[in-house]
Amino acid sequence: MKSIILAGGSGTRLWPLSREKYPKQFLKLTDKSLFQDTVLRCLEVSDISEIFVVTNESQKFFVIGQIEELGYEIPLDNVLLEPIGKNTLPAIVYGMSRIESEFGKSVVGIFSSDHILDKNAMETIRKTEELAYEYLLTFGIAPTSPHTGYGYIKPTDSIGIGFKVSEFKEKPDTSTARKYIEDGCLWNSGMFLFDTDVFFEELERHEPDISAAFASSENIKDIYNKIPSVSIDYGIMEKSDRVAVVKIQERWSDLGNFNAIYEEFEKDENNNIVNNCDDVLIDSSGNLIYSKADKIVSLIDINDMIVVDTPDALLVCPKSSSQKVKDVVSSLKSIN
Ligand code: GDD
Ligand code: MG
Repeated sequence: MKSIILAGGSGTRLWPLSREKYPKQFLKLTDKSLFQDTVLRCLEVSDISEIFVVTNESQKFFVIGQIEELGYEIPLDNVLLEPIGKNTLPAIVYGMSRIESEFGKSVVGIFSSDHILDKNAMETIRKTEELAYEYLLTFGIAPTSPHTGYGYIKPTDSIGIGFKVSEFKEKPDTSTARKYIEDGCLWNSGMFLFDTDVFFEELERHEPDISAAFASSENIKDIYNKIPSVSIDYGIMEKSDRVAVVKIQERWSDLGNFNAIYEEFEKDENNNIVNNCDDVLIDSSGNLIYSKADKIVSLIDINDMIVVDTPDALLVCPKSSSQKVKDVVSSLKSIN
């Protein structure tokens, strides 16, 4: 199996830790970055020469350097540089086209680089190859809340170890998400398994302009100038009637915002997470404090807050407002 790693996002909900030029997939929240964990998972199913990373010029050196740190050397031709980010569908088409021209018809796993996922899940993914000859395969997670940042997948008839999908709905509002959960829907994990033939047939059917642009030129700048920005989820998964899902039982988490990071990592006896042992917290609990600056953070009677201090930016917000952090980035962009 070949692998494509999507590593071109900017992770605006983790500002000011995650920056356009240093996005969240490359941050080392533990001893390895989420990108490095993704590469190690892909190595369970693909050789390093079969792994393709779609990213951009400014992140190229993180990609190569962080793979080197793992003790592997990725062929430079496998690092595909987009001239501009146009969301996940063009990135996937770029990777699938390169794989098809190098290896011919192939089954390809598509992996986001912003997830925590137990390595054992790769064994399940490896077993689903047969289904990909007929379906666009997604991997579903049992939902735990009506999260509005995910895709919802409705499984129907069973087919081998998976299920046909009658509906795929990307990022519904909270009340619709609640309804989908009552109906037995799964969250889309953001991982897919595509056979090149099935994928390009569905691309031509549902996004003919993108299909034609890639067929019309070899020059990636020309192609990207012609195509719209669209995610795989809105562009193909919502429209196709050839979608199937396989459930993933292992631990999975999208570290999309600071609240998700708080939930995921170990807390001290007062339910705080601090990265600097000199920080002083008095009668404060449920906080996530991350200080990059060489300075002590002190909180008194503060609960359930996010405090992120970096040399050039400070963020303070309630944990429950974590989703709004991306609005800071938008307003900074509109000022500059
Ligand atoms: N190369 C490239 N270019 N990569 C990109 C681009 C781009 O323009 N945009 C995003 N990515 C990468 C991100 O770095 C991330 O690893 C992955 O593609 C997914 O993009 P996100 O922007 O994080 O998507 P999402 O989290 O909002 O939604 C997707 O994942 C959810 C699960 O985490 C969807 O597939 C949802 O349906 C799914 O539930
Ligand atoms: Mg994501």
